[in-house]
Amino acid sequence: MKNKGVVVKKVYIGMSADLVHPGHLNIIKKGAELGEVTVGLLTDKAIASYKRVPYMDFEKRRVVVENIKGVTSVVPQETLDYTANLEQFRPAFVVHGDDWQEGVQRKTREKVIQTISKWGGELVEVPYTAGISSTQLNKALKEIGTTPDIRRASLRRMLGVDRTLRFLDIHNALSGLVIENVHVDCDGSKKEFDGMWGSSLTDSTAKGKPDIEAVDVSSRMSTLNEVLEVTTKPVIYDADTGGKPEHFVFTVRTLERLGVSAAIIEDKTGLKKNSLFGTDVPQTQDSIENFCHKIREGKKAQATEEFMIIARIESLILGRSVSDAIERAEAYLEAGADGIMIHSREKQPDEIFEFCDRYKQLKNRRVLVAVPSSYNSVTEDELREKGVDIVIYANHLLRAAYPAMMKVANSILNNSRSLEADSDLLSIKEIIELIPEAK
Ligand code: SPV
Ligand code: MG
Repeated sequence: MKNKGVVVKKVYIGMSADLVHPGHLNIIKKGAELGEVTVGLLTDKAIASYKRVPYMDFEKRRVVVENIKGVTSVVPQETLDYTANLEQFRPAFVVHGDDWQEGVQRKTREKVIQTISKWGGELVEVPYTAGISSTQLNKALKEIGTTPDIRRASLRRMLGVDRTLRFLDIHNALSGLVIENVHVDCDGSKKEFDGMWGSSLTDSTAKGKPDIEAVDVSSRMSTLNEVLEVTTKPVIYDADTGGKPEHFVFTVRTLERLGVSAAIIEDKTGLKKNSLFGTDVPQTQDSIENFCHKIREGKKAQATEEFMIIARIESLILGRSVSDAIERAEAYLEAGADGIMIHSREKQPDEIFEFCDRYKQLKNRRVLVAVPSSYNSVTEDELREKGVDIVIYANHLLRAAYPAMMKVANSILNNSRSLEADSDLLSIKEIIELIPEAK
């Protein structure tokens, strides 16, 4: 109880509170000793601006934090930067763990000190709670794995945070693990891949087959299964043409059951060849009517709300106009597609940009996916600017692996031993320890 007549000081605590641990409670306890605690809870968008999308969405996190002893109110903090909220609440104290003095949050900290000093506010830092951190909990959660329901729904959640998502190709479990784990620190934020692209090209190639739907759906699912077994990130599955509508409905159900978030079907018919052949090989585009029928059947077959069917337009690949692609986009969205993937094999992104500009004008516009394999000088930021929601790096991991394997195989043949190849190899220690036994 605060004494009557005593002015209660305002305390502000910014946090994500996705994985609440004793460290958070410690900070709140300190805050409550100093006054009335307002938690500035980072929105999903604010969190996603510097690390992965939180496991729990804002409303769930709000319910948790509101009920922590010592918290008086919870307000959204829309950016990593505290300034806007601090200027609004003008707290006497900001409380934070002392672990932000170094590293990515250092600048944020300095700005907080500078801002609150304007009204004599003070930063109080609580010693970091040893033995527990969100990073450790995150790692533990990844080891436990995920469920098909959580994984399936995660793509829609990520799409809600307003930044371009990046996906990279899988062709076996190890490629999935690369995507799961690789990250870089970049301008104070942690950059990683958001999910995996179940490429038909790289899955077929890894199986020594051409990319012509010769690898059947069961075999494709078996690759998916081995990847899903060891990863937690969402998967967008390359369903090629989807086959006959009567067959596609079964693929949709299977993918949903596995926890795949989306299937992309391309509007080609007959014997499908890889799009990057373009018009060098005979390829036939499906009629708008037929393809819309396939989309409708797929959407009807869906058992879950969150699964997505994305329609891939091959007009530009087949030498048709941007207008043709736009006409198709409108029709496919009308038929119920949850988004459009536009593909091109030009070296420059001009036709893709033109499509994007016109796509933006569509009333029924939904998610937009681009695959910058041939126009690879384009940056994610430029694509974002044009309204692209998901960028797929469709074949890069397999294209990286093959030359590396060829180089070493050649070296062994040329030298009649493997010593010369050593510098291109993981050490024996590294390879035997790459996958920990506890997995
Ligand atoms: C794939 O990765 O299989 C694709 C993309 O469909 S592309 O190869 O560019 O057509
Ligand atoms: Mg493909």
